[in-house]
Amino acid sequence: MELSNQEKRVLVALHKLGPTSPQELLKVSGLTELVEVMNGASWLRAKGLLKWDEKFNVSYRLTDEGRELVNRLPERRLFRLLEKNGGTVLLKAVAILTLNDGPDRKILPEEIPIAVGWLKRKGLAEITKDGVETMVRTRPGAEIIITPDEKVMTMLAAAPEGVPESDLDSRGVNLLLGRQNILKKKEETAWRFELTDKGRAMVEAGIDLQETVSQITPELIQSGAWKTASIRAYDVASFAPPVYGGKTHPMRRIVDDIRRIFLSMGFTEIGGPFVRSCFWDMDVLFVPQDHPAREMQDTFYLSNPAKSAIKDRKLLDRVKGVHESGKGVDSTGWGYKWSEAEGSRMILRTHTTVDTISHLAKHNEPPVKAFAIGRVFRKEAMDATHLPEFHQVEGIVMEEGANLRELIGLLREFFQNQMGFEEVRVRPGYFPYTEPSLEVDVRFRGKWLELGGAGIFRPEVTRPIGCKAPVLAWGLGLERLAMLKLGLTDIRDLYLPDIDWLRNAPVEKTQ
Ligand code: FA5
Repeated sequence: MELSNQEKRVLVALHKLGPTSPQELLKVSGLTELVEVMNGASWLRAKGLLKWDEKFNVSYRLTDEGRELVNRLPERRLFRLLEKNGGTVLLKAVAILTLNDGPDRKILPEEIPIAVGWLKRKGLAEITKDGVETMVRTRPGAEIIITPDEKVMTMLAAAPEGVPESDLDSRGVNLLLGRQNILKKKEETAWRFELTDKGRAMVEAGIDLQETVSQITPELIQSGAWKTASIRAYDVASFAPPVYGGKTHPMRRIVDDIRRIFLSMGFTEIGGPFVRSCFWDMDVLFVPQDHPAREMQDTFYLSNPAKSAIKDRKLLDRVKGVHESGKGVDSTGWGYKWSEAEGSRMILRTHTTVDTISHLAKHNEPPVKAFAIGRVFRKEAMDATHLPEFHQVEGIVMEEGANLRELIGLLREFFQNQMGFEEVRVRPGYFPYTEPSLEVDVRFRGKWLELGGAGIFRPEVTRPIGCKAPVLAWGLGLERLAMLKLGLTDIRDLYLPDIDWLRNAPVEKTQ
């Protein structure tokens, strides 16, 4: 077993002295600080070479103020004054009587109420009211009483180092603790160290007290002393407490990874505000105004601002035409009367598709490759896979000749090759703005979980904003993906401030 200098010294000293305190060990160990003894002892204990007993001790000593008052507490001085004056004095005369009296009886005006109070409390005197006058009168026989607090003070006066609590009359201590700044309490732990059989055997087998070096310093190298020094072996198996450094939140790390993946695939990052109009979040995307997702119970409608004028009147006309009759596109539209009032209502965006469609409206010439990572809001009941506020990872590719096969290839590249999900499934889906539409599922713990939707934007969406080339589009749930990557079974756990989980979450890349 490898021992440090400290440990060796404590061990040898303890063998010499037998069971003893750290203070005694310090004297014979050759160490200079008590903390070195404690340190060495605690390692020896961990190695089974030493055991210890711990006792918690309380002791008291007098403060400087307390020392001043030994045998002359205010009530004792007043008592003496009363005695000197026949045992009874008018309360208002006390101040005058005491004015020129000796130190044994002199009472300062501010001490009088304290002295009277304690005399009464200790039963040494009584206060009587005689008509208008208040009298202080000693109790018969009280002159021989020395109260427990005075006895404690006398004991402490003789022991400036302090007296253990157990040696003092607790009634006296309590009385003194009831006054300000007389007693000083000291609490300390007393240790008694003892060698174990193993420790004793080790010393008896012989311990080399030659200094071992446990830290290589520049001086050691420069002086050449390292050549002859005995250097302590490095023990990689020895216990060390875990150190938790600061690190990125696991969710943030996944977001950073996703961003890096899309950037490396040549995508541009875009974004947008949380508050949008229904026109941009839904109408431009050809979502009919009676679609269930637009209901109050699914979407957060704002009351302030409740509405916002749709500024692009040309676009408004085209969107209205497409909804009502498929105007300008080879489509029948939805065949209902489109309402501008409904389109101008303000909401918290329900998906990040609002970001990609707004981007496309400004950049309608191919090629466009863009992605967005952003927060979206839905009036959903929370459960293990649903949050009312979550994030989506959205993407679009607009280029001549883009097709479904390319879209499926992109989704597989992202989920399988980049995010590392082994089983990825693409199945037909439905969104009002894409045709064909897909749902993307990944398999996790034997179950398929829906991670996102995708498709090719319909002409009813692309034509009014002036896009002629096909647009591949997708939107993925970030928390669902993170939950799987982090091995959680409940999506809510992602946002719990669980320090153990955060500390132990691995820091390696998610792919
Ligand atoms: C959409 O939001 C579409 N905009 C996606 C899309 C974009 C389709 C472009 C086609 C073209 P959906 O409502 O299914 O689709 O939501 C997409 C993903 O967000 C879901 O697959 C799921 O992973 C995640 N998601 C949806 N609702 C919640 C919720 N309440 N909590 C957490 N994640 C959710």
